[in-house]
Amino acid sequence: MDKFVIKGGRRLKGEVTISGAKNAVVAVIPAVILSDEPCVIENVPDISDVSISLRILYEMGAKVENLGGGTYRIDATMIKDPIVPYELARHMRASYYFLGTLLGKFRRARVAMPGGCNLGDRPIDQHLKAFSALGADCRRDNGMIDISADMLIGSQIYFDTVTVGATINAILAAVRATGLTIIENAAKEPHIVDLANFLNSMGADIMGAGTDVIKIRGVRSLRGTQYAIIPDQIEAGTYMVAAAATRGDVLVKNVIPKHLESITQKLMKIGVNVEEFDDSVRITVDGPLVKTSIKTQPHPGFPTDMQPQISTLLCLAEGTSIVTEDIFNNRFRYVDELRRMGADISVEGRVAVIEGVGKLYGAPVTAPDLRAGAALVIAGLAASGVTEIDDIYHIERGYENIVEKLRALGADIEKRSVPGPAQRKAV
Ligand code: EPU
Repeated sequence: MDKFVIKGGRRLKGEVTISGAKNAVVAVIPAVILSDEPCVIENVPDISDVSISLRILYEMGAKVENLGGGTYRIDATMIKDPIVPYELARHMRASYYFLGTLLGKFRRARVAMPGGCNLGDRPIDQHLKAFSALGADCRRDNGMIDISADMLIGSQIYFDTVTVGATINAILAAVRATGLTIIENAAKEPHIVDLANFLNSMGADIMGAGTDVIKIRGVRSLRGTQYAIIPDQIEAGTYMVAAAATRGDVLVKNVIPKHLESITQKLMKIGVNVEEFDDSVRITVDGPLVKTSIKTQPHPGFPTDMQPQISTLLCLAEGTSIVTEDIFNNRFRYVDELRRMGADISVEGRVAVIEGVGKLYGAPVTAPDLRAGAALVIAGLAASGVTEIDDIYHIERGYENIVEKLRALGADIEKRSVPGPAQRKAV
């Protein structure tokens, strides 16, 4: 039971280097199973979703070597049993990528229903639709998803909704299928392009990733590769907002500015200065912050994973802002926590109305999920007084060294261990 303790009110100043993208690496790690040789992956962030993904591979029989500096060598060629049990899968949403890779490699996958952030309904019907289109038989029994196919045959897959997870799973299953697969209404997120680049570097034949039509010509085998994960667009966006919320001056390094366009545009509308360089952006604020409207959308629209953070910034802006959450139906669970800190937000269904209050006040709060937790960190940094954030394990799923990075920018934040009930008794 650890918590973050933040003494707010300090302007963030200096430079921060962005780590590898969580949502790319959690797809790339399982994808190593598809290779017939070991792979080396660089720029792997030290976050708990990565440890869980690596642990799943290890427990399944893969050899995982940490070469240091965020580089891992993974040999998954000795995995024989295409099963991911509940105990391993339940901690992480992305464990469902093992369905696609195991099916692609072994024509069989048995994976427990995934865990992950509670953001409302998170069905997997489109994942199963893709597997079925490729000729697999999908069943659920006892909390497990069981998929098998005598042969995987390339096919046309049309997604009824734009989904990152199902697009990735369809790619993973189709890459070693027989013939051509065409995915229509595909998601276009940068991490989908990163996964396709990784697989192509192993000899896959994937075209169109980053557009809404992806064509995959199945190959018989995939070789080993050495590949560096792209920088995390959401981690970058989070530091950009934190800089703005504290009226700081921060150079956010190791980013791909194109991936940040929708975030940059909204920040500029709010009155934040964003200067773009080749692989960094500088955030400063010299005037008032002002209201805006935001609607989350699939890439290249404004990302749902930045909605809680930017909503926190809008609490500090002048006027009434409207935020519409169009991806998930339960992504305002942080609002009650922000209200404890003085925010004035009302939520009706998928729409939040934020009345700017100019100032937030430190309070004890609880992180309800990963990005909501990041939003509470931003609120704590900007607030006057002390904020204590519980359940920070959510935040540590997706932000590498967040305390060290923020302290280097001048924040007063520390991680404190709080004894659990058993430890408390012993004291
Ligand atoms: N959906 C369906 N059926 C499906 C799959 C999705 O109806 O079979 C719906 C979902 O309910 C949701 C929408 O489609 O309303 C989009 O869901 P998507 O599949 O795109 O989300 P995901 O794959 O579950 C990934 C990220 C999330 C991120 C979303 C949207 C990973 C591991 N997770 O989730 O990341 O919010 O895409 O961009 O890549 C985070 O990093 O904090 C996070 C939650």
